Amino acid sequence: MKKAIVCGAGGFIGGHLVNRLKSEGYWVRGVDVKYNEYGNDNADEFIIGDLRDPNVADEVITDDLDEIYQLAADMGGAGFVFTGTNDASIMHNSVLCNLNVLEAAKNKGVKKIFYSSSACMYPEYNQMDPDNPKCSEDSAYPAAPDSEYGWEKLFSERLFLTYQRNHGIEARIARFHNIFGPQGTWDGGREKAPAAVCRKVAMAEDGGSIEIWGDGKQTRSFLIVDECVEGIRRLMESDFSGPVNIGSEEMISLNDFAKMVIDISGKNLTINNIPGPLGVRGRNSDNQLIQEKLGWAPSTPLRKGVEKTFSWITEQIKKREAVPELVEA
Ligand code: NAD
Ligand code: GDD
Repeated sequence: MKKAIVCGAGGFIGGHLVNRLKSEGYWVRGVDVKYNEYGNDNADEFIIGDLRDPNVADEVITDDLDEIYQLAADMGGAGFVFTGTNDASIMHNSVLCNLNVLEAAKNKGVKKIFYSSSACMYPEYNQMDPDNPKCSEDSAYPAAPDSEYGWEKLFSERLFLTYQRNHGIEARIARFHNIFGPQGTWDGGREKAPAAVCRKVAMAEDGGSIEIWGDGKQTRSFLIVDECVEGIRRLMESDFSGPVNIGSEEMISLNDFAKMVIDISGKNLTINNIPGPLGVRGRNSDNQLIQEKLGWAPSTPLRKGVEKTFSWITEQIKKREAVPELVEA
């Protein structure tokens, strides 16, 4: 039986990844500073621990592990990453997790490691035209990410590659493009646009309006988490190190995305575009490399993932309303 550790197992993608590994017959250890908010904690062993502490990394990464999945990071959507106020902690916390996990992997002789990078590492100058953003893997340099979060991811990609080069740890690096789905953060300030828009639509009175940050013409692609996990496993099983995009190529403007969610809800709502943290003007995954190297690319239509997510967020809101002290003012 293969043994793996998922660092960041209490998080959104980590929780789904643990389930996937277990369904494949793995024994899985999870580590995180917290349990999963939605009960998606199915690791065989779940250790509460802070990976910024090298002793914790040394304790949880044992020499019997076949694989490490390093997803622990200080992470959030535009409201967390692009305001500037969290920059120091994002860089400090995430880079410490990466350094400590890699060093422990080296010391314990673990041979294979996955790292979750982000599309935020791509240069801003290629993402100014909302209708024609460029995010092919080879467009990463000259580097000019628009956020410190992106700079940290770019540095850490290189860090993982140095451990591969100098210490023989096989690295597998993916650049995720805005992953969403059930059990993802949907409120509290770290939520990304797909969950935020689903929440706003689900909470709006029929006939009312919802607020969308910016002019709504900015573009993104959003990938349902099941496809993300499929991509992680396929990359891990391949002999390709990456970095490689794991994202959808179904680009959509934020206002059109909001219209899709409104349509799914069956409500009659208008869109009110307001100022807010924006990030890049346009972003879309480029799936040529993943198709070439893995013979696979995500294919689930956006609407299908949004229907599933809207329904899950609607349930969460109902659950919260049933317990009045949990309802935010
Ligand atoms: P998430 O916030 O739900 O998961 C990250 C987990 O890491 C959290 O549970 C958090 O508690 C944990 N963590 C943070 N600091 C830690 C520490 N010091 N020690 C132990 N655990 C710690 O985010 P996610 O959406 O599941 O993202 C997983 C990874 O994928 C992250 O590295 C993120 O940067 C990357 N990523 C995600 C997306 C996306 O759209 N979700 C896009 C690009 C990259
Ligand atoms: N979060 C959020 N909430 N975004 C909104 C909202 C809202 O209510 N309304 C409109 N938006 C707009 C944002 O202004 C931004 O232009 C766009 O929707 C996408 O926002 P996010 O989903 O929050 O983030 P992102 O796509 O800019 O970046 C995310 O994806 C990266 C990978 O592609 C972040 O989560 C990064 O951390 C991640 O690495």
